[in-house]
Amino acid sequence: MKPAICPDVVVIGGGMITHDLILPSVYHLQRLGRVGKLTVCALNSAPLLALKDSAELQQAFPGQAFEASPPLSEKPDHLFPERYKEALARLAPRQSVIVAVPDQFHYETLKEVLAHDQHVLCVKPLVLKYDHAHEIERLARDRGLFVGVEYHKRFDRRSLMAKRQYALGHFGEFAMGEAKMIEPYYYRHSNFQNWFTCDKTDPFVYVGCHYVDLVYFITGLQPVALSVSGVKGRFPNGNEGFLWSHGRVRYENGALLAVTDGLGYPDDAAGSNDQGLLMYCEGKNASGMIEHRDNDRGVRYCYLEGIGCGGSKYNYVSPDFYRLVPWEGPGFKPAGYGFESIAANLEAMQRIERETAHLPDEPALARRRELIAEIDRQGLLATPANSYINELVVEAARLSIVNDGAWVDIRYEPRLHVALRHSH
Ligand SMILES: NC(=O)c1ccc[n+]([C@@H]2O[C@H](COP(=O)([O-])OP(=O)(O)OC[C@H]3O[C@@H](n4cnc5c(N)ncnc54)[C@H](O)[C@@H]3O)[C@@H](O)[C@H]2O)c1
Repeated sequence: MKPAICPDVVVIGGGMITHDLILPSVYHLQRLGRVGKLTVCALNSAPLLALKDSAELQQAFPGQAFEASPPLSEKPDHLFPERYKEALARLAPRQSVIVAVPDQFHYETLKEVLAHDQHVLCVKPLVLKYDHAHEIERLARDRGLFVGVEYHKRFDRRSLMAKRQYALGHFGEFAMGEAKMIEPYYYRHSNFQNWFTCDKTDPFVYVGCHYVDLVYFITGLQPVALSVSGVKGRFPNGNEGFLWSHGRVRYENGALLAVTDGLGYPDDAAGSNDQGLLMYCEGKNASGMIEHRDNDRGVRYCYLEGIGCGGSKYNYVSPDFYRLVPWEGPGFKPAGYGFESIAANLEAMQRIERETAHLPDEPALARRRELIAEIDRQGLLATPANSYINELVVEAARLSIVNDGAWVDIRYEPRLHVALRHSH
């Protein structure tokens, strides 16, 4: 059944994550009647042209298109850093915006989106500082706007199973663990080389945050300190970045999580990356364990040509995150927890609008705030109110890695903040 409210969607950012997950997910929701007009904004027209020309997207979503901002007729190297604001200005209030620009632009972009009275879904990490997360939460609450953070691993069935069984006490209490996410080497050749520099981000902040969020999602334990060390290297364009990182996160109950990340999984390997989570837990006279091997989900393909990630022939193929598969309609549909996460966030925005559309302004605002507080409490969709430990961790991690792995404490009292241990 077509919902009463069918929001227009603006996607800000036309890069890899938009091509690989966001645009196909929104296209599918659009043809299901759950999304109205679709605009995609980028810094310049080049990535938008690549999205339009994508053979995979054309095959999966025949006849569907987005409005490009800047238009495709603009010169590919002509930059329009402010143009997305025009797309926002054209939206009616409380439609849906998805922010998918590089990490360091999330904060200013989110503020702009909220100032235009729009619900928003942001790719992780929401922002890079706790104070900014708090400010975003406050700005959104004032206007009764939903802010979701796209931590899609929360929607992986194995995460949901672990969360439920951990809460039931089936594992005991988390004590010692390790998480790993090594992204492919070929990432170094992408647009990453322009923004993944030592002063801006690092592998812990870029992908380690997924597992830090997941351990919090499963256990509810707050991180209280961390140390992150990096290994520097040069991108093909000469820019210096942290290409590898190793972090240690301490939790409120004394537990420790080691987090290994990098941009270096061999392109010729079966991957498409290397990732997983191992958690040992203490029970009464016994220990429990959670192990997720997230790169190898039991499906192996060997192609005739090197069409796997990184160009390899033999591949571990994950059917769980995101795949285009045949369905009852035209083309192919996105399946997996990546799609489900985006759909759930957009559905939350639509539900808020559906349930308040009939109310006068003031009661509608009050009810929108109540509905958002309910989502915050439920803790399934990541929001600034229920996932701010991630901003504390990211802020602490940046402080640690540029100080050669110094320990940084995360303080919850008397006010939330992070501080280098030796500076107390
Ligand atoms: N697993 C995940 O959740 C996941 C995976 C990949 C990336 N991400 C996140 O997504 C974000 C983008 O990553 P990516 O890999 O797509 O990067 P990318 O470099 O491929 O693309 C970035 C895009 O942002 C656009 N952009 C930059 N400034 C802009 C502006 N002022 N106005 C409009 N567009 C602008 C660029 O044109 C480009 O299209 C990052 O925050 C990253 O951490 C999340």
